[in-house]
Parts: sequence; C-alpha cells; structure tokens
Amino acid sequence: MFIDNHCHVLGEYYDNIDEVIKKCKAAKVEKIIVSGTNIKTNREVLELVNKYDIVYGTIGFHPTELDDFTDTYFAWLEANINNKKIIGIGEIGLDYHYDNTDKELQIMVFKRQLDIAKKYHKSVIIHSRDSTRDTYNILKDYKLSGVIHCFSGSVEMAREFIKIGYYIGIGGIITYKNAKNIKEVVKEIPLSYILLETDSPYLAPEPYRGKENNPSNIPLIAEAISGIKSVSITEVAAVTTANSRAVFDFFNK
Ligand code: NI
Repeated sequence: MFIDNHCHVLGEYYDNIDEVIKKCKAAKVEKIIVSGTNIKTNREVLELVNKYDIVYGTIGFHPTELDDFTDTYFAWLEANINNKKIIGIGEIGLDYHYDNTDKELQIMVFKRQLDIAKKYHKSVIIHSRDSTRDTYNILKDYKLSGVIHCFSGSVEMAREFIKIGYYIGIGGIITYKNAKNIKEVVKEIPLSYILLETDSPYLAPEPYRGKENNPSNIPLIAEAISGIKSVSITEVAAVTTANSRAVFDFFNK
C-alpha cells in the first residue's frame, strides 16, 4: 500500500472528490493526507476527514495566505487540532518568493503554529520556498517532527533537516527529466527518510506533467524512486509507509 503524505484534494480543484477517492483505492493508495492552507480550506479538511475513511488531514495557515490574517487564526487552530483525524499542522512555513513578502508576519505566524504543534504533540508539514536558511534555523529550535514538503534543497540541507527530526517529501518532480538536483538528493539520503507526496492538484508526475494531478499517481513517484535507488517498488511502498506511520499518528489504523 501507499500513502500520499501531502495533497490538496479540495472542492476548489476537483468537481468529483468521490471519484478521486475511488481512484486512490484502485491504485492501492490507502491513505491520503489533505492539507489546508487558509480558513476556508481548513474548514473543508474537517468535513473531508469525516466523510472519507482514507482521508486524514492537517490544518494550518500557509505563508502566502496571510492577507486577511488576524489573531483568531491561532484560536481556531487550537479549537480544532484535537480532532482524531487531524494528524498534524500544515501547510505552514516561509515563502520569500514574491517581492512584497512580509517576512516578519510570516515568521511570527509560522512560530505561533509551531508553538501549537509543540503544545499538542503534533507533527508539521513544512512549506519552504526561497527561505531554506530561515526555515531551518527556526525548526532547529523546536524539536518537532514532520516533513519538508516538496523538498528542493541540496543533499547537504536534506541531511541537516534529517538530523533535526524531519523527513524529506518527494513528489512528481522526481519523474522530470531535468530534475538533477532532487534525483541526487534521493540517491544520497536513505529511503528511511523519504515520504511520498503528490501535492495534487499541482506537480503531476510524468507522463501527466502539466495536467491535473491526483493522489492515485503516487505509484509513479514510487517507481521513479525505485529506479534511482535500485530497490523494488514493493520495498519503496513498505519503507515509505512505515516512515509515514512514524511521523504521523494514524491511531493504528
Ligand atoms: Ni501543498
């Protein structure tokens, strides 16, 4: 079986979520973790985890979704974090890609959410774009566990994140011809620190690059990893599933 450790299977992207869930089951993707990014999608995550057995969720406020930020974000998170199928806080982090970035606000919101993760013993799903150094320096002090989603840094940085308790999230980019950097990362770090993710609806693996992604494409990502590491796809499935269970508390389901 496979687990998709990070995706956005939400009404704003998919007309028929029932159909997406069916496809997952057919592809042996037996759990998917749907991440919210703002108040609207976080609310939807709470509905989806109730509706579908294979859906688990994380809730959190994404660094590029802070336009309507208020302090109530944190109270809302705390009020919902103990839902049995909410297994972490995410997608949270830092994103310095855009010129008008309010770094101070991003850092404050990131830290406050890490405080909540610490208080409730939750894992975190981390978004980091053009901000590796700051992300690392903040996470280093928290002693939490989680995943660096859609990792795009160097082998050296991957090793540093592993040392402080993080797993490396690998998605569709690993199937792209020109993705030398991430192939090097997968080659060099142990399989026991890799988590599979689609980030659906984004970043569809080959041969679907550029099209709408969905979690049933997880085996294509596992296949690419099995090629790079010269192990069977069965082993990739078994090890990455065990990794996921080590990071996220699925309550033994
Ligand atoms: Ni994402």
